[in-house]
This record gives sequence, structure tokens and C-alpha cells, in this order.
Amino acid sequence: MKKFLNFGSLNIDNVYSVDHFVQAGETLAPFSFEMFPGGKGLNQSIALARSGAEVWHAGRVGPDGEWLVKLLAESGVHAEEIDRTGKRSGHAVIQVNPQGQNCILLDGGANMQIPESYIETSLAPFGRGDCLVLQNEVNSLPEIIRRAAQRGMDIALNPSPITDELYAMDFSAVTWLILNDLEGEALTGEQQPQEMARALLARYPHMRIVLTMGSAGVLYRDAQESHTHGIFHVPVVDTTGAGDTFTGYFLSAVVGQRPVAEALRIASAASAIAVSHKGAAVSIPTSEEVKRFLSTCEENRG
Ligand code: RIB
Repeated sequence: MKKFLNFGSLNIDNVYSVDHFVQAGETLAPFSFEMFPGGKGLNQSIALARSGAEVWHAGRVGPDGEWLVKLLAESGVHAEEIDRTGKRSGHAVIQVNPQGQNCILLDGGANMQIPESYIETSLAPFGRGDCLVLQNEVNSLPEIIRRAAQRGMDIALNPSPITDELYAMDFSAVTWLILNDLEGEALTGEQQPQEMARALLARYPHMRIVLTMGSAGVLYRDAQESHTHGIFHVPVVDTTGAGDTFTGYFLSAVVGQRPVAEALRIASAASAIAVSHKGAAVSIPTSEEVKRFLSTCEENRG
């Protein structure tokens, strides 16, 4: 089985359920406040592990983040090499409205203070054919990519959130680019998903592009293949972490040699389950739940 190394963020998510997103000059009392484990990195590692993949996590926490490391380990992620600092862990302030939409304020904390020496130590046990998973919530992304490419690793990047640093980045070493349509528009200047994929492929012909489009589903494009998959309709409670669930399940399936069309279906089902529960990491389903969900869909279809 191929090994995954996810070099990514671990956050404490402070989640506020609100009637509407707070406006400039307004003070708003939330319906409720809860603290959840999160961070795109942590969420994607948990999705990979719950889907059945073997995954190691590299990242950094402060003393307030020990429970995040414990959760990763309990979820089956190899978390032994996560770095520690005396500073604060990353945290997010997340408002969730009654439609299940969110807006997120992110303070990178320890995620953005990863020392260069730690990069090489983390990559050392991995080599050709192993898959490095990245998001844009840790520092030194270009350096991590450069060193992983030298080792012959396949690289999957979820360029989220979009920052100025990303515009200047060279994605030549990236095999899998998994992004949403807003990120696609920011990176290509195009407004139609097919045009975004075309623009990315023109620049990076080897790339395998997975473009999620919210309620319009997902588009996959590479030099040979093109696929689409619609969403599974479920009551939406909280969309936080749905993209991370998709990314983990999709990568686990395709790197595990499943056909792209099947991987899209599995990942869409996993993220449909995730949006029907509150929280990010805690809403990620197990592979058994995903199988059950898909077989129920089949039965309902007759
Ligand atoms: O993708 C969802 C995640 O984005 C949240 O868990 C939050 O921590 C932010 O990183």
C-alpha cells in the first residue's frame, strides 16, 4: 500500500452558530459556541485514515494543541513526529449560519512557524511513489514541494486558502491539484470551471485537476480524461471541512488505483455525510458509513 505524508495545519476551531454573519460595526450574540478540532491538514489526515489509507502527519502545535495530536493518533494517523513549540497552536474563528455556510478567520500560530530543519526530517522516511498531501496553511510550501519532488514523491496540493504567495508559486511538481471554483478563478482569472481546467492544463500539461463547484458538483480533468459528478442531496448542517473530507477520500481512492469516476463518487458521498453534521474533523465519516450511504442511494434508486 502506498504511504501518505500530510504536511499540514492543526487548528483549534472556535465555532459560533449565528443567525447571520456579523456585519461591520455590529455586535452579535451567537446561538451557541463550541470548540472543535480542525485545520485543513488535520481534517485531511483524518479523512485519509478513515478511508483506509496509511497516513503520517507532519506539522506543529503549541501546548494548547496536544489534544489535536491525540485525536490524530486515535483516528489511526501516525502522529509521532508532530513538532512542538512553546507558542500557541493555530486557531480559527468560524461563524456558521442557518444555511450551514461558514466564514472563517484564521490565525496560523504554530502552523506558520515550522523550522526548515523539520522539513527534511519529516520527509526523510518517504520516497518514490509515496504521496505528499499539502494545503496552504503552513509556511515554506515551495521548500516542502522542492524537497519532496527531489525524493520522487507524488504531490497533491489543495491551494487553500488562496494567498499572495500562491500566485507566484510554480506548480510544476504538483500532480494532483484539488481546488474549489473560487480558488480556480483566483489562480487562472477564468470564470467557467472548464476554462479554469483548460488554463491550468495549458500551463501544467501533466496535472490532474479536481475542481469542486459547490452545489454544481465536481469536475475532473487531465490530459486524457474528463469526468463530472453531481452532489448527493442531503440536509446541510455545516459545510466546514466538507472539502477536506472530499480531498482525503478522493486521494485515498485514486492513489489506491481506483478509477477516477469511482473516486469522485466515493469522495462526493463522504463529503455529503460530512455536511450533514456539525464541525469539521468530527463530521468526517468512516469508510463503513460511506459504503452504507452509497448502498442506500443505490437501493433508493431501485
Ligand atoms: O477546511 C476547514 C478548516 O479550515 C477548518 O477546520 C479551519 O480550521 C480552517 O483551517
